Amino acid sequence: MQGAQICLAIVVLVNFMQILHANYITTSSSIQWTRFVLLRGSSGFYTYAIYEHPKDFPGFTLTNTRLAFKLNKLWFNYMAMSDYRQRKLPLPDDRSPNRSEALAYPEAVLLTDPIEPEFKGEVDDKYQYSGEAKDIQVHGWICSNPPTGLWQIIPNNEFRSAGPTKQYLTSHVGPTSLSVLLSTHYSGQELMAEFKDGEPWKKVLGPLFVYANSAKNESDSQQLWEDAKQQLSVEAKRWPYTFAVSDDYPSADQRGSISGSLLVYDSYLKTNTSANKAYVGFAAPGDVGSWQRESKGYQFWTTTDDKGHFTIENIRPGSYNLYAWVPGFIGDYKYNDIVDITAGHAIDLGDLVYDHPRDGPILWEIGIPDRSAAEFFIPDPDPNLVNKLYLTRDRYRQYGLWQRYTDLYPDEDLIYTVNVSTYQKDWFFAQVTRNVSNTYQGTTWQIKFQLDKLISSGTYYLRLSLASATDSELQVRINDRHENPPLFTTGLIGHDNTIARHGIHGLYWLYNVTIPGNKLVQGNNTIFLTQVWGLSPWRGILYDYIRLEAPVADAY
Ligand SMILES: *[C@@H]1O[C@H](CO)[C@@H](O)[C@H](O)[C@H]1NC(C)=O
Ligand SMILES: *[C@@H]1O[C@H](CO)[C@@H](O)[C@H](O)[C@H]1NC(C)=O
Ligand SMILES: *[C@@H]1O[C@H](CO)[C@@H](O)[C@H](O)[C@H]1NC(C)=O
Ligand SMILES: *[C@@H]1O[C@H](CO)[C@@H](O)[C@H](O)[C@H]1NC(C)=O
Ligand SMILES: *[C@@H]1O[C@H](CO)[C@@H](O)[C@H](O)[C@H]1NC(C)=O
Ligand SMILES: *[C@@H]1O[C@H](CO)[C@@H](O)[C@H](O)[C@H]1NC(C)=O
Ligand SMILES: *[C@@H]1O[C@H](CO)[C@@H](O)[C@H](O)[C@H]1NC(C)=O
Repeated sequence: MQGAQICLAIVVLVNFMQILHANYITTSSSIQWTRFVLLRGSSGFYTYAIYEHPKDFPGFTLTNTRLAFKLNKLWFNYMAMSDYRQRKLPLPDDRSPNRSEALAYPEAVLLTDPIEPEFKGEVDDKYQYSGEAKDIQVHGWICSNPPTGLWQIIPNNEFRSAGPTKQYLTSHVGPTSLSVLLSTHYSGQELMAEFKDGEPWKKVLGPLFVYANSAKNESDSQQLWEDAKQQLSVEAKRWPYTFAVSDDYPSADQRGSISGSLLVYDSYLKTNTSANKAYVGFAAPGDVGSWQRESKGYQFWTTTDDKGHFTIENIRPGSYNLYAWVPGFIGDYKYNDIVDITAGHAIDLGDLVYDHPRDGPILWEIGIPDRSAAEFFIPDPDPNLVNKLYLTRDRYRQYGLWQRYTDLYPDEDLIYTVNVSTYQKDWFFAQVTRNVSNTYQGTTWQIKFQLDKLISSGTYYLRLSLASATDSELQVRINDRHENPPLFTTGLIGHDNTIARHGIHGLYWLYNVTIPGNKLVQGNNTIFLTQVWGLSPWRGILYDYIRLEAPVADAY
């Protein structure tokens, strides 16, 4: 698909500097340079921006920044962002008040009188098309006549904050083609980059590739998506680009690399296992897990092979911590020493051992520790609030599932009985609020379990692993629903707004709740999990995984 013709009628709105909350960025608080690069024979253009906050500038806060194009709605009507997340989308006019109905969450509408009747009765919400950084490196639009594609390609995520699973908006009704480079979506204000007066900072965002392709025959338009994916792998291999002749964008020989092997050590079983498909990344020095709230620096991530081996290449010179997390295990790994990357040097860290949180034998567990609530029960949407793209896959992206909790549990909150219930069917994916005639109340879920043998002088540990929290407080009580104060509380946590935006995770939280054995009884026990706050349908918690550990029997 060489020499593609861009539909000349495209209204391309280059909007690189547009910043939500534009008041945060004024000419007196930061400087931005934007570069556009055209290469001979290339079917598209590259663009990057250098943001700078010089030493003598006042403080400011950077929340969202993005590259946005508004395409011609008469031409582009088919959006593709993955092999299965692609569809024809409604027209922007269909969102106007005379063609749609506003829904409870203001970004979403119900299409009541769309220009093309096929969309009638569907929900439209741009957040239904968000995705994780690692999964949205190419997305865009197809015009069927003449068959033409316009794509945004992010060959490398090094300038994106908060790791490979940070979620961003992509293409959506407009037709809008959007690459959000930094944002607080699915994270909250904890991810805003705050700069003090005079704090020096500079960051290169990009380069991104805006790619156009074409086909001869309308029936080949699906090939445009395949070709765009192919182009992503071509661009990724070219990274770092040689054409970006800025001192702020180091070339390959000015960068370093790192390798090693990650093992997971179980201090109870005293065994090592290889960390399979673990996420390993370099980010600014900080506490364990701090990378998910970090947005000023660069981050470099990869995944391990099934032996735990990893290599990260093309790391910009600088000082970093190495962080990791391993699907199947709770918690976060951090390599304690700060690692200095210098030009042209390859560092081998050898075997790294993640001693994951584990104090005793597991009595029971609910879910899979992978920082997502996807394995839990996802209800069908209200039949009047459907997006047809998600009838069978990614069902959590449907609008309004928060209300399904009240529909399914009209009188009594969720009760989960260990060995009787199954988490896929009986654990609602989000502990949302209860809708009582449009007022919203906190809920108390129960986990019931039997203890055959109680070690009353021992200590039990409840591991509460959360995939998201929005203005919530989770309290834990044992065998007494009214225990005051509760045995444990998280305090008020989280602003990731994942429930309102149909995500399956936001930021990750892990709690270790100590339960003295004398709070439990031989026989039947109940753990009460109370999410205290109501007032809104969109407050609540997504659990990742819960487990109860017993004391080590030999010790008693
Ligand atoms: C519908 O609303 C839009 C603005 O939202 C307006 O431009 C258009 O004329 C209206 N159409 C009709 C049929 O009322
Ligand atoms: C386009 O493809 C269809 C189906 O493959 C074929 O019947 C038609 O002749 C093609 N048209 C052109 C102009 O190549
Ligand atoms: C686990 O691996 C580390 C690093 O190779 C090693 O030092 C340790 O002895 C191993 N522990 C066990 C129980 O195999
Ligand atoms: C859990 O908390 C207890 C009590 O503070 C502590 O002794 C234990 O080491 C903690 N376990 C982990 C794995 O953090
Ligand atoms: C709350 O329930 C009422 C019916 O009691 C319903 O009309 C309303 O849409 C619900 N709110 C949300 C946000 O779904
Ligand atoms: C679950 O069932 C197993 C095997 O039947 C039993 O050993 C265990 O005690 C039960 N656990 C609970 C919490 O009921
Ligand atoms: C314990 O709970 C089980 C079911 O969860 C129930 O069948 C049994 O009667 C209970 N035992 C007692 C002593 O309450």
